[in-house]
Amino acid sequence: EIPSLADTFVDYFPIGAAIEPFQTEGLKAELLKKHVNWLVAENVMKPDAIQPAEGVFNWTNADRIVAFAKANGMELRFHTLVWHTQVGDWFFKDAEGKPMADESDPEKREANKKLLLMRLDKHVRTIVDRYKGDITSWDVVNEVIEPGDPDGMRASDWYKITGTDYIATAFRAAREAGGPDIKLYINDYGTDDPKKRDLLYELVKGLLEQGVPIDGVGHQTHVDVHWPPVEAIIKSFRKFAELGLDNIVTELDMSIYAWDDRSDYGSDIPEDILTKQAERYGELFKAFRENKDILSGVVFWGIADDHSWLDGFPVKRTNAPLLFDRHYQAKPAFWSVVGEPAES
Ligand code: G3I
Repeated sequence: EIPSLADTFVDYFPIGAAIEPFQTEGLKAELLKKHVNWLVAENVMKPDAIQPAEGVFNWTNADRIVAFAKANGMELRFHTLVWHTQVGDWFFKDAEGKPMADESDPEKREANKKLLLMRLDKHVRTIVDRYKGDITSWDVVNEVIEPGDPDGMRASDWYKITGTDYIATAFRAAREAGGPDIKLYINDYGTDDPKKRDLLYELVKGLLEQGVPIDGVGHQTHVDVHWPPVEAIIKSFRKFAELGLDNIVTELDMSIYAWDDRSDYGSDIPEDILTKQAERYGELFKAFRENKDILSGVVFWGIADDHSWLDGFPVKRTNAPLLFDRHYQAKPAFWSVVGEPAES
């Protein structure tokens, strides 16, 4: 009998996993029930899944995950109210069906901006109203920073049409609809990168000064066996904690390939790679435990290697980024995280 991950960390922080509705049944569900006490939807709470067309709300898939969590005494995170992908095109089209971002007339641009912010406000309030009693931790916006784009802000339709107003609008609507008890996060990847971290820091600081209700930063933490250094990840938690903000590791996984490596081990993953992965995961969790005062949860982006976005990204190949293998057996990384020798 192997130890439960969630029980192992019960004095530190909740342990979560991203799931699809079909994983609420069968062996995957059993694995989840044993090891995690937090859940997040991998896809079915994204904007296009919940509101595929204006005024058409589809709750069925999201509700399945909420029901599974409640039935098993697990908490939930919401991912995500706003994003630039997996969002219906309808948000960004004017009454004539023309893309708002293409508009050059200043008056029409202003009207478009108002319309988009109104749609956003309604999207956020409708969802928060429905789930505020069940979900406490919310990704309000996702991936708004892009160091390569002008101002360091991702040049999404949201940004092209409203500037940063969409961010303030989303947080304010979520707070008004959800009240003081829900926790609101700005989520992003690569927050360990100094340039990106500083851009995010300046954005959040400015928003807080304007009274925008942000409670914390979600650090996706999609790492690989080589990069980035654990210290860079922790440094970022500290920096946001200085602003009085909470931190959550929201999408943890560890690719067995370096970022620009395009090889594929297939089903023969070298032993030394799995050992390296175990060491890295061990170091990460050691640092997480040491920083539990500024870190309030760790969520994996999946639970076992049979289901991971990294099998298809950046190329289609076999990856093994999680703590359990394709047969739901604990990997060396699992043992390194729970702190028992692999030999035992
Ligand atoms: O829903 C369709 C289905 O109808 C169709 O049959 C199938 C065929 O390919 O595609 C399905 O949609 C896929 C969807 O996942 C649901 O499985 C999309 O093609 C696929 O692109 C999508 O990928 C998701 C990705 O976000 C989209 O950007 C991944 O599962 C999901 O893990 C990933 O998660 C993101 C976080 O939200 C944000 N941070 C990065 C993270 C990893 O990319």
